[in-house]
Amino acid sequence: MESFRPRVIFSAAITLDGKLATRTGDSKLSSNKDKIRVYRLRSKVDAILIGKNTAKIDDPLLSVHNTRKKNPIRIILDSNATICTNSRILKTCSKIPTIIIVSKKAQKKNLQKLEKFPVQIIVCGKYRVNIKKLLVILK
Ligand SMILES: NC(=O)c1ccc[n+]([C@@H]2O[C@H](COP(=O)([O-])OP(=O)(O)OC[C@H]3O[C@@H](n4cnc5c(N)ncnc54)[C@H](OP(=O)(O)O)[C@@H]3O)[C@@H](O)[C@H]2O)c1
Repeated sequence: MESFRPRVIFSAAITLDGKLATRTGDSKLSSNKDKIRVYRLRSKVDAILIGKNTAKIDDPLLSVHNTRKKNPIRIILDSNATICTNSRILKTCSKIPTIIIVSKKAQKKNLQKLEKFPVQIIVCGKYRVNIKKLLVILK
């Protein structure tokens, strides 16, 4: 039977004591071998989802690093629509499909800033993005 939610893969580099990053946000934990694993995984999935802090701290592109492969859709959880307009994700959104997930409480002025970019905006959740509902929408 087909599921009503997409298949989700959790991928992260984690320290032996279970941390994703240092207190100051440094998350350069991966070896070169692991980076290759991540790029391969990206080329096999439809979408890659991150939270807004990762977008802010790491400023990633989330691309596949291989021009022959298709980039996955980038999905950012951002309840207040505060993603920086200078972020590499927004700067490249005309080339790589990007979806920003906001909640109903996102301010109009923030949404207006976002609407200037060719991104899809999905409103899901009252005060914060509702992940359960979101997965059904994404499917
Ligand atoms: N080691 C690794 O593999 C790896 C991978 C990625 C990131 N990182 C590191 O992880 C750190 C950031 O992690 P983080 O946990 O602070 O932030 P995050 O996962 O990037 O973002 C969390 C933010 O996402 C937003 N969000 C919206 N809806 C949410 C929901 N339903 N559940 C959870 N969050 C929701 C919230 O902000 P709003 O309430 O404003 O929406 C929340 O504060 C950075 O230092 C980054 O470098 C490490």
